[in-house]
Amino acid sequence: EKGGYASFMLKEIAEQPKAVADTLLGRIDGSGSLMLDEVRIPANVLREVDKVVIVACGTAFHAGLIAKYAIEHWTRVPCEVELASEFRYRDPILDQQTLVVAISQSGETMDTLMAVRHAREQGAKVLAICNTNGSTIPRESDAVLYTHAGPEVAVASTKAFLTQLVACYLVALYLGQVRGTKYADEIRAVVRDLASVSGAVERVLETMEPVRQLARSLAGKDTVLFLGRHVGHPVALEGALKLKELAYMHAEGFAAGELKHGPIALIEDDLPVVVVVPSPRGRSVLHDKIVSNIQEIRARGARTIVVAEEGDDAVVPYADHLIRVPVTPTLLQPLVATVPLQVFACELATARGNEVDQPRNLAKSVTVE
Ligand code: M6R
Repeated sequence: EKGGYASFMLKEIAEQPKAVADTLLGRIDGSGSLMLDEVRIPANVLREVDKVVIVACGTAFHAGLIAKYAIEHWTRVPCEVELASEFRYRDPILDQQTLVVAISQSGETMDTLMAVRHAREQGAKVLAICNTNGSTIPRESDAVLYTHAGPEVAVASTKAFLTQLVACYLVALYLGQVRGTKYADEIRAVVRDLASVSGAVERVLETMEPVRQLARSLAGKDTVLFLGRHVGHPVALEGALKLKELAYMHAEGFAAGELKHGPIALIEDDLPVVVVVPSPRGRSVLHDKIVSNIQEIRARGARTIVVAEEGDDAVVPYADHLIRVPVTPTLLQPLVATVPLQVFACELATARGNEVDQPRNLAKSVTVE
């Protein structure tokens, strides 16, 4: 059932354009309004929400970190993101006006389930974003928005992550729609961008051969670092997590602005550093800052692997390896920028002789706390 692919992970990476499109399907009407009737939390309750708290683990947590940017930007409602395993032990401040969003591919992750139970005991409303129909987390939540990734078999999450992002964007826009901070024409514009992302992911997948070659050439390395800013920071964290769990390498993701506060001391000759570069359009200050970060690490000997938008020429002089991704609005860029990092980790793991679908010590769903 691997459909001709060498692993489920490769198959699931390839299924991402469809998974993204399927998760959007039927959720937008002809006029560009979101139809999320399946989210059974009444509009008047959503209008009263004064804080959103996202709880999740692992890759789903990274989706939550990205969702925060979209929710705060589009709704102006404060949003916190917390590792589910930390959440209930710190006595979080929750009440009827808190919307807790629990993100889980399996719907069975014990840490996330415990966070959901705790939130509901405190009177918060819980919305689950989940890929598995009828699993425990959606059953115990007030509402659910299903991702339509189809079954994800490989332990390392790929297509579920992209669809979690799509679901988070939909929730953010829906909150904006219900609360009146986002109007139909603006929603329509974002939805149009979202609809074209599936094709963009397809194009990324067609250009992955140089990434695979690069990954194979790095199989003997001990460490790879990942840097990003804004939504590129969680993408960097996700790139590092993939490499840890699949290639069993030391990999760390940092906010590029934090470099000078410590991590830059790690840079040494020929250390591979993957840098996720935000679009030079829009908030160009972010872009300029990260170009300086690339210069700083390269001056100290790093081997720079730069993920940047097509047509972004400013990065060319400082990139030892350049991975191009299609032009995408900044908030949506994680949907395309994550894909090369998945391919990179999968290929590096294979080159090191690892079993990519069943990495050592890991289980697909973690049902113990
Ligand atoms: O099923 P869940 O989304 O709740 O799982 C959460 C994490 O265990 C999961 O994302 C894990 O980090 C993956 N192995 C990452 O690839």
